[in-house]
Amino acid sequence: MSRHHHRRRLALPVFFLLLLEVFLPSAAKNHHQSTDPPIDPIPITRFREYLRIITAHPTPDYTSAINYLLNLSSEIPSLQSEVLYFTPQKDKPLLLLTWAGSDPTLPSILLNSHLDSVPAEPHKWVHPPFSAHYAGDGKIFARGAQDDKCIGIQYLEAIKSLSQENQFRPLRNLHISFVPDEETGGFDGMAKFVESEEFKKLNVGFVLDEGQASPGDEYRVFYADRSPWHIVIKAVGIPGHGSRMYDNCAMENLMKSIEVINKFRDAEFDKVKAGLAMNSEVISANPVFLNAGTPSPTGFVMNMQPSEAEAGFDVRLPPTADPDSLRRRIAEEWAPAWRNMTFKITEKGPLRDYLGRPLLTHTNDSNPWWSVFKDAVIAASGKLAKPEILASTTDARFMRQLGIPTLGFSPMKNTPILLHDHNEFLKDSVFLEGIKVYKSIIRSLTSFAGSP
Ligand SMILES: *[C@@H]1O[C@H](CO)[C@@H](O)[C@H](O)[C@H]1NC(C)=O
Ligand SMILES: *[C@@H]1O[C@H](CO)[C@@H](O)[C@H](O)[C@H]1NC(C)=O
Ligand SMILES: *[C@@H]1O[C@H](CO)[C@@H](O)[C@H](O)[C@H]1NC(C)=O
Ligand SMILES: [Zn+2]
Repeated sequence: MSRHHHRRRLALPVFFLLLLEVFLPSAAKNHHQSTDPPIDPIPITRFREYLRIITAHPTPDYTSAINYLLNLSSEIPSLQSEVLYFTPQKDKPLLLLTWAGSDPTLPSILLNSHLDSVPAEPHKWVHPPFSAHYAGDGKIFARGAQDDKCIGIQYLEAIKSLSQENQFRPLRNLHISFVPDEETGGFDGMAKFVESEEFKKLNVGFVLDEGQASPGDEYRVFYADRSPWHIVIKAVGIPGHGSRMYDNCAMENLMKSIEVINKFRDAEFDKVKAGLAMNSEVISANPVFLNAGTPSPTGFVMNMQPSEAEAGFDVRLPPTADPDSLRRRIAEEWAPAWRNMTFKITEKGPLRDYLGRPLLTHTNDSNPWWSVFKDAVIAASGKLAKPEILASTTDARFMRQLGIPTLGFSPMKNTPILLHDHNEFLKDSVFLEGIKVYKSIIRSLTSFAGSP
């Protein structure tokens, strides 16, 4: 409870206050917002307990998180659980839960979230990032509140609630995965899981993975990720005295390239500024390091033009981009050999699926899962924004690569986007509303009797 509250309640008799505190924590929490429905404290408590388990890198406590989730799932009799390991040290557990459907031969539904989170700098936070502080206005502050411990608990709460409805039983198998290491690239987590026999046996037909908060009243949904390329360009040239003017030194060649790349960047950014494309629909190319100069004890040698210079760029390609044409552009314009330049491209992820198709999930009638998902969100009184490409990457790319339709969705509306930021929070009412949305989605997806 926040100090805020205690201050607000000072006006009331102390005895009444104590009663409120002991018996009616949800009413106490909301007494200033009489129009909101009462807050159910139990899912909020579980959410906060999960948030307090420190699964931030570089030393995520996966064991405690898995034990906590196993305990929660043991309260839902219909769920079976299994802990899988894909590293020889068995230090990166993956929790797989299953609600068996009445026809297990049909392709199954997978709900995914990751156990880990990025680190937090406590001194830059208003409330300690692993305290899950519950503020007077309903905000729950914690690292992972948005990214993405919310959805992990929401899945379980929605399933728990559905399983208590006697007349409901899924037709298809429903699986819930809690995977390690998403924030470090997913290579020891989802990447290994999708390659495994265990995953093949699940016969997954459709996946929901994490999305992002929406500052507006509509939920956002993501049908593709951008693929990162790390590009390092390097120029060489004749070294010379700092006083001499001559052509084709390394710095001059590098700077010419940087100008060319900047022009490309401007052209892409102009499309965004003109409203012709969203940020995530263009190729971004941002300089991230410059490496040049001859070090001296006080900084750099100032009267010497160096013989080498390099620059690094973070480039992100939407699945609609043509990677071959970008490779040609880099070789011919960004780092041409005739300007004595070399380059190295490190592709951090694929752009095409195993059949060579763009790595995206269709959000139209060609994908029956899309319609089921969309209608289920609407049935829960939710509104969906126009589907987007995510500007960054998630584990969803590993499923899309196998050709499995995968949408990124975290039901957080009217919420500022604070993933990886200081003071990450989620409001209690938004969290609880999300459980209702997932109930509708899970009911519809697992009941879907169509062909896929
Ligand atoms: C498991 O959950 C129950 C009920 O939610 C709780 O009382 C118990 O302390 C939990 N056990 C562990 C080991 O967390
Ligand atoms: C490239 O290097 C060669 C050999 O050092 C040099 O003759 C030539 O002028 C350089 N060209 C450019 C554009 O830097
Ligand atoms: C669905 O969307 C995909 C990708 O945008 C497109 O190629 C396809 O033609 C669309 N299909 C239908 C039936 O609209
Ligand atoms: Zn995430």
